[in-house]
Amino acid sequence: MAIAVVVGAQWGDEGKGKITDFLAAQADVVARYQGGNNAGHTVVVNGTSYKLHLIPSGILYPNTQCVIGNGVVVDPTVLCSEMEYLNERGISTETLAVSGSAHVIMPYHRVIDELEEAERIEKIGTTGRGIGPAYADKFSRCGIRMAELADEASLRAALARTLPLKNRLLQRLYGHPGFTVDAILEQLVPLLPTIRPLLTDTSLLIDKARRQGKKILCEGAQGTLLDIDHGTYPFVTSSSPTAGGAAPGLGFGPNRIDQVVGVVKAYTTRVGEGPFPTELHGSLGDEIRERGHEYGTTTGRARRCGWFDAVMTRYSVRINGLTGIALALLDVLDAFDTLKICTGYMYRGQPLKAFPTDLEVLRDCEPIYIEVNGWQQNITGVRRWDDLPVAAQEYLQIVADAIECPVQLVSVGPGRDQTITVKPVFPT
Ligand code: GDP
Ligand code: IMO
Ligand code: MG
Repeated sequence: MAIAVVVGAQWGDEGKGKITDFLAAQADVVARYQGGNNAGHTVVVNGTSYKLHLIPSGILYPNTQCVIGNGVVVDPTVLCSEMEYLNERGISTETLAVSGSAHVIMPYHRVIDELEEAERIEKIGTTGRGIGPAYADKFSRCGIRMAELADEASLRAALARTLPLKNRLLQRLYGHPGFTVDAILEQLVPLLPTIRPLLTDTSLLIDKARRQGKKILCEGAQGTLLDIDHGTYPFVTSSSPTAGGAAPGLGFGPNRIDQVVGVVKAYTTRVGEGPFPTELHGSLGDEIRERGHEYGTTTGRARRCGWFDAVMTRYSVRINGLTGIALALLDVLDAFDTLKICTGYMYRGQPLKAFPTDLEVLRDCEPIYIEVNGWQQNITGVRRWDDLPVAAQEYLQIVADAIECPVQLVSVGPGRDQTITVKPVFPT
């Protein structure tokens, strides 16, 4: 087993950070391949909670090589403050490598993100971190890459090249004063000595590791339904969180991927705008939110909550080629006497066989539910499949059958040890 990808199979916040950290115990390399600090991954180890936005969740192991790949957009200020945050907690960032080809989120990207969101008639509810505008510049070929942060002269040249364009947009379209090269340099030049040693040809690094038979774990951010192509566009992020994104986002061939583990919650959440067929608006949704502490790691926003949607997750199995799922937050359902699973959609009186790609159709879909028994038992101390209550085992089996993908891991609490392995991702 050389390369495994951990991917969010819903709308993000599925518990990717916790699962990546758990699997990183056996991995040699952990790499982020897309997104930026719009992500918020919470990892709990021995009761201490770590909040990561940009640095891979493998960083909590001292010898694991961590990589921020070319497909990520990097806010240099966030990168340095996150390294400092970890170092202050006794976590070394010595093993971190950042691709010189990763694009930089500049201060003007954050401003444009907010200005664009304010102008939108239908809001997306972005995280305001400059993600969309940074990816837009990458694809418009007017971005600045991390390699240009190697020294002040190249950063100055890069800003001199791009700022006139950006200032014209800011000043003429939005009436914003714009930015000067000197003001941005003043912010970023003090960070360059920290950033310079991180810059690496990370594709080469991963290729060497793979040739040496090392285990490589790719950590997705966001989720499948937030994918720019396959998500609920336009209520999506600006990258490809789906498993296929790992190959261009890190620089290896797609045939190198051996396993794709989809992280799913035992229910569904969404933060930001956009359709959500199984959303619960009343007290049930509130109860799930409170039990699951469903408030965003990045923006603190309350997450919208609803029942597990097998139609959407089956779509995720198809789009990502999932070989197994890690089902997280099962313990959040401990309190309920009955649970619902959405196994189909009704659209204008007709059952739909597949998750619709047309947003207007999705908005009008009514979930078809099956009702199953809850287990009403605290499962946070369970460590083996056989020790799960029968009703919980049945719930997991119904999910696996409905999405046509086996359960590989079950998470029953935020802690590293609160994990049940059904089938190991990296067999020893
Ligand atoms: P990510 O963005 O996919 O990494 O997920 P987040 O970290 O944003 O949100 C998941 C939240 O659930 C975090 O606060 C985790 O600590 C927590 N968590 C993860 N797995 C479990 C679990 O099995 N049970 C409970 N109760 N919490 C979990
Ligand atoms: P993790 O990795 C949940 C959502 C935002 C918004 C949309 C676009 O923690 O699962 P963006 O700032 O990316 O342009 O916002 O995507 N979003 C997330 N939702 N988890 C995330 O990351 C998210 N990252 C972005 O709320 O709806
Ligand atoms: Mg998150």
